[in-house]
Amino acid sequence: MTHLPRAEGENTPSSITAPAGRSGPGWWRSAVVYQVYPRSFADGNGDGVGDLRGIRQRLDHLEWLGVDVLWISPVYPSPMADNGYDVSDYHDVDPTYGTLAELDALIADLHQRGMKLVMDLVANHTSDEHPWFVESSSSPESPKRDWYWWRDEPNNWGSFFSGPAWTYCEGRAAYYLHLFTKKQPDLNWDNPEVRQAVYEVLRWWLDRGVDGFRMDVVNLISKDPELPEAPVMPGQRYGNMRQSVIDGPRVHEYLAEMHREVFDRYDRDMLLVGETGETTVEEGRRYTDPARRELDMVLHYEHVEIDHGTFKWDVRPFDLGRLRDRLAAWQEGLADVGWNSLYWDNHDQPRAVSRYGDDGRWRTESAKLLATVLHLQRGTPFVYQGDEIGMTNFPFTSIDEVDDVEAVNYYHEAVALGVDPEDVMRSLRAMCRDNGRTPMQWDASPSAGFTTGTPWLAVNPNYAEINVAAQVDDPDSVLSHYRRLIRLRHEDPAVVDGDFTLLSDSHPQIFAFRRRHESGQLVVLANFSSSEAQLGELVGESCGELAGESCGELVIGSGSGPEMAPWEARVYRR
Ligand code: NOJ
Repeated sequence: MTHLPRAEGENTPSSITAPAGRSGPGWWRSAVVYQVYPRSFADGNGDGVGDLRGIRQRLDHLEWLGVDVLWISPVYPSPMADNGYDVSDYHDVDPTYGTLAELDALIADLHQRGMKLVMDLVANHTSDEHPWFVESSSSPESPKRDWYWWRDEPNNWGSFFSGPAWTYCEGRAAYYLHLFTKKQPDLNWDNPEVRQAVYEVLRWWLDRGVDGFRMDVVNLISKDPELPEAPVMPGQRYGNMRQSVIDGPRVHEYLAEMHREVFDRYDRDMLLVGETGETTVEEGRRYTDPARRELDMVLHYEHVEIDHGTFKWDVRPFDLGRLRDRLAAWQEGLADVGWNSLYWDNHDQPRAVSRYGDDGRWRTESAKLLATVLHLQRGTPFVYQGDEIGMTNFPFTSIDEVDDVEAVNYYHEAVALGVDPEDVMRSLRAMCRDNGRTPMQWDASPSAGFTTGTPWLAVNPNYAEINVAAQVDDPDSVLSHYRRLIRLRHEDPAVVDGDFTLLSDSHPQIFAFRRRHESGQLVVLANFSSSEAQLGELVGESCGELAGESCGELVIGSGSGPEMAPWEARVYRR
């Protein structure tokens, strides 16, 4: 969060002093974040599961790419019901990943290289094995009895991961709320003791030297305290609780309090990013308005849900119009107040190149196009491990190949409700989170150089072709392209601060936008299709100018003229 003296009315990002290198106030505006999913990044001890040692061994890759920040998904002790998003101790490292000393060493390594570390704060819920829950569930007289949501009778809510959102507990003779698995009971943030306990965790990590937090499902921390019954959608068994839990009544109050109680006490500038699924542009502005002192940026979901039907597994074909509309809405909505995060992939998403690109014939081209469109928008880009080499979805054929609890629960629930297992597998192939969790493909050696043991999740069979070693010396590779884009952001102020204008809201194939800045402007043209596209069809802009020589200097891409090749992307500087 930026700690800058502000004059009246001076609270918009555009009034923040330009970031001074990698550490000055607002440094995160010109930064690129790289997300590591520790289980799948690099295995340093040969047990088949990625770990901190493995991450430390691969820091040269991150430095070569030019990223500024490493965000690691949870490495805290955990029963791993949801791969670490079920924390049983906030003050340690799970032995699967290493030790606290190794985490300290990682922080030191990163800082020495001029990079920063962002931890994942998972505090909407804990593990049911966390001592807080163990105590809370032990008796109705427990001093922590109100640390979680307990009711004598459950309401009709379903969990995000199939099944009911309530589970009965013998010790309390009552039901507890869990919006995710039953191993992830929701903390009751309305209880001030809970909030203070979370703030203590944050301070503890900041005192260890971490540089910020990615806050897991942070827009769920405040529930409608009435916990009202929820509407049941056709074909569903349980109520859809979203309107009682998303962006709830006191969420902004709690984030502002967190800021006062934690971040305002430090004199360094941290990166605070909230995961805010299903939030709106309007709420996004509130969360990231510097004057409100809540968060720096949010990870919203709108652009990663354009291919969802009534729910996630009801997969719809890619629609450029919907994508362009949602991306532009966030760019425009946060233009004057707030700041965007930019991402395609993370450990909860299928691979963008398989989803919005073409992972067959045009894999390299479409992976580069997606990268260009992402990195040239206004906001802070998040690169998810493997994106930089154009990793693809996995060809799942059987539920036995799937690890992810969300997908496994959905499979069993859908099959029990009579859905053809083949149809369920088709949805999983497209949407399952394990698509993004297969091991990182480092080279063409067995297990893609990820481990010398047996990988916890199968390596994508395309690893011999798609891997870091095969791309690092190739200037035309996806990997080199990412490096170029990151360098461009660090060098060209128009990438960081230029304003955003959509150049056409109706072209059937092309996504085009302009970034205007006092230092010059950038024009981005991207053909989101496997056929040629005519720039002349762009409406609302001087087409001749876009297609002709007066476009300016081509800084990214290699094409020219009014016709764009399949999945071609160009960036002109004028
Ligand atoms: C969001 C995380 O990114 C996801 O992996 C997890 O399953 C849920 N939150 C619950 O913590």
